Amino acid sequence: MRGIVVRDSGVALEDGCEELLADEGVLVEVVYSDLNYKDALAVTGRPGVVRQKPLIAGIDLVGRVVESADERWTPGQWLVLNGAGLSETRHGGYAELARADADLAVPVPDGLTPERAAALGTAGYTAALAVLRLVMDGVSPDSGPVLVTGATGGVGSVAVMLLAAAGFDVAALTGREDRFGDYLRDLGASSIVGRQALGEPGRPLQKALYAGVVDSVGGQVLANAIAQTQPHGVVTACGLAASPDLPATVMPFILRGVTLAGIDSVWAGVEDRADAWRVLARGVDLDQLDQMTDRVGLDGVIAAGEELLAGKRHGRTLVEI
Ligand SMILES: NC(=O)c1ccc[n+]([C@@H]2O[C@H](COP(=O)([O-])OP(=O)(O)OC[C@H]3O[C@@H](n4cnc5c(N)ncnc54)[C@H](OP(=O)(O)O)[C@@H]3O)[C@@H](O)[C@H]2O)c1
Repeated sequence: MRGIVVRDSGVALEDGCEELLADEGVLVEVVYSDLNYKDALAVTGRPGVVRQKPLIAGIDLVGRVVESADERWTPGQWLVLNGAGLSETRHGGYAELARADADLAVPVPDGLTPERAAALGTAGYTAALAVLRLVMDGVSPDSGPVLVTGATGGVGSVAVMLLAAAGFDVAALTGREDRFGDYLRDLGASSIVGRQALGEPGRPLQKALYAGVVDSVGGQVLANAIAQTQPHGVVTACGLAASPDLPATVMPFILRGVTLAGIDSVWAGVEDRADAWRVLARGVDLDQLDQMTDRVGLDGVIAAGEELLAGKRHGRTLVEI
């Protein structure tokens, strides 16, 4: 079995790593995975994701059940598993076989091929969790525009697409408008906001522009986005592509009733996972998804991870196992 293994001595594509797999969970033939920000950190040997070694990397897997002691899963069935400790404390999706958590895996939803489910991966599933949270907390297309930060990234691109498909007026914040302005408008953004507009320290309460925010970058951008959120608006925070800091004040919360909602895709419950995948199956434009998806094999993952961290990738990267 080939797989990308993170060891104390480094990260490499190895042959014969099946001995690492414990005899538990659902045995899956992994057919696809994908590349997320966390994957890029793990396969380039950076700290913060992998918490025990040796460990097979890859926070997502899409594959066919080979054998299962759990009667909810039958051989031949396609499943998708995102997060759930993969590439943190459990062996992940960058290998030809995996042992999947029977409780947190979900069937590949009707309307998506296994390949497209992997192309969406954690980034798409997290975008769907964020959009669901906005809607559950009362943000509707009539409430006002929704700001999506890190818009050319995986989470951002899918969030723009889902929100536009649901009828929202989407403002896409990006540091790469020159190259990707048209890409974002094609995904459904109605306006583009330059990253520098929210990049500097600002007043605690600013002009209230947005009914909702999908943020994947954190830091000063998130602080300013909160300060620009309308009364009773909702800001979902899922990422730290810019910074884990939040240099904000409580003013928007206590004077405007703004809600700051955290999104955790890794340990989301199985019902939320199934809901998010249903939203993706209904709301994603398949042609656009295909256009924004680049492909690499297992032997191309480490180089693609370096590129992602260097800001040289956009959209989604499918990994063909
Ligand atoms: N909470 C969860 O469960 C969860 C799940 C998935 C992802 N995440 C997190 O969400 C974040 C995004 O993930 P992703 O897969 O979408 O990554 P990605 O594809 O690399 O996208 C990140 C985007 O952030 C923007 N960005 C990068 N550096 C920036 C900086 N210094 N300042 C401002 N913006 C910057 C870029 O967009 P522009 O060039 O368009 O500005 C980039 O495309 C990561 O921190 C990831 O760990 C969390």
